[in-house]
Amino acid sequence: MCPSMPCMDPVASMFFLFYFLCVEAFILVAKFFADFAPLSSDYSGAVVGFVDDKINFCPSFSKLDSLLSGSLTRSVSKSKFTGKRYEVLEIIAPSAELEEIDKVLLVGIGSAENITEFDWVQLGGVLSSALLASETQKSSVYLDRYGDKSCDSRIAVNVALGVGLAAYSFDKYKTIKEEDDDKPRVKLKSIEVTFAVSDSKGVEKIWKDSIDPVLRGTNLARDLVIEPANVLSTCDFVKRTMALQDNGVEVQVLNRDQMQELGMNALLGVSKGSVTPPYTVVMKWMGAPTDENKASEPIVFIGKGVVFDSGGISIKPSSKMGDMKGDMSGAACVTGLMHALSCRGSRVNAIGIIGLVENMPSGDAQRPGDIVTSMSGQSIEIVNTDAEGRLVLADLLWYAKEHFKPSVMINIATLTGAIFIALGDKRAGLFSNDDAVSAQITDSGIATGELVWRMPMGTEYEKLIKSKFADMRNAGERGGDAIFAAQFLHRFVGKVPWVHLDIAGTATGNVTKVSKSWAAGWGVRLLDRWVRDYREKSL
Ligand code: BES
Ligand code: MN
Ligand code: ZN
Repeated sequence: MCPSMPCMDPVASMFFLFYFLCVEAFILVAKFFADFAPLSSDYSGAVVGFVDDKINFCPSFSKLDSLLSGSLTRSVSKSKFTGKRYEVLEIIAPSAELEEIDKVLLVGIGSAENITEFDWVQLGGVLSSALLASETQKSSVYLDRYGDKSCDSRIAVNVALGVGLAAYSFDKYKTIKEEDDDKPRVKLKSIEVTFAVSDSKGVEKIWKDSIDPVLRGTNLARDLVIEPANVLSTCDFVKRTMALQDNGVEVQVLNRDQMQELGMNALLGVSKGSVTPPYTVVMKWMGAPTDENKASEPIVFIGKGVVFDSGGISIKPSSKMGDMKGDMSGAACVTGLMHALSCRGSRVNAIGIIGLVENMPSGDAQRPGDIVTSMSGQSIEIVNTDAEGRLVLADLLWYAKEHFKPSVMINIATLTGAIFIALGDKRAGLFSNDDAVSAQITDSGIATGELVWRMPMGTEYEKLIKSKFADMRNAGERGGDAIFAAQFLHRFVGKVPWVHLDIAGTATGNVTKVSKSWAAGWGVRLLDRWVRDYREKSL
């Protein structure tokens, strides 16, 4: 049963809050526990250190090496380990006298010059995979110096972030025990990592206040993306957004009747063929200092939340159709981002809006040839029911513009297969009417490793959008569909500074050093960083 107004039912919302606090919160953090401790010489368990390509040990490891009678130096010289970035050397039971040391892991950082923040995150990812592969549940990572530089708190939290990101896996439906499996699986349920740093209190504070919320937001997004559409229907997605209320986010839900009242027929048309009802969820985080006039204009994030995209009547081929359970990756990103911003008490006004629908074929489904009138009043001829994301976003962008007077709107969506053809899975397509914001987001992409590439827009593409019978059509001929879609969305943003991120290539199926699962939770780190660097600082 789907509640018609889930946010209006206090009993249900109490229940879900309780459920999320007890169950989901545990699932989200179960894989990685971070702890911070002062540097000490009481080495025990699994001990981890970073080493450059000149095999310069940090002071803690030089000390450890002498305690181990030069065992580390000997192991390095007898192995192929060169300290190249991302290389790992595992030395098991290095000493008969110091039995409490189970193993030592050396992680290569390559040249100690010019290591970026994201390099440290990736080094954490490599370490995480090494710990999981060698079934090392508890370890201590020594971070005092590297090369001739001292490790600052940024480095420690970035390594911790990388460990947490790469430790994520989604296995709640796996019930077969390892011993029954013909292939041995990773047996570890969690890894506990203590980071030994000079200013452990300071680092722990930065971790808890500002980095761990982003890790959790990313993992929340990943959970939502991977959860299949029979479990995560539009109603269930709505319920999950309710958990954000606990962080002080105001969650409002628009149901079908309310959207009809608003005239959101472009969005509603997409959901006609599904028994799962459509919802728009508005998540408001008003964190800006109230005395700032500038701060009153919110940033609005908008996510495509097609919980499953069969293509509708213009049905997709069956191969890989199951991947379309991830067609709500944009909405998942916005939800994870709102979680991160609220959890870390970001001093901005940010509104997340997601449109939740399912695109299915049925006797009630929207047909090719149908004409709908969007909330903006502009009519759209549906030439292909599989080009549905742009229809959802058209009404959300207009709604956002009309209701919230945004200072900037950023929408994020698995919008077109064409962006994957153009850019592959390493960069998302960025389309925008604002050069400054585009440059900022490009920069945040480099900082977080969630890279974007600006794509062209222009009036020369407008004639592709012309329809014989309506103001526009929702799809064109072969070629340039990612640009077509962006140009289409542009008709619904007015003069508001706007960025459209097409993440159809990057959101799923792309394994990296920091994302080992099918879903990347792509965009949470990017947009959190953009808020941090370009919105919070300007206040
Ligand atoms: N959700 C898809 C885009 C997509 C494709 C996301 C692959 C992730 C991976 C979108 O709704 C879609 O179906 N787009 C069509 C548009 C076409 C019919 C004009 C496409 O890309 O084929
Ligand atoms: Mn589609
Ligand atoms: Zn889609």
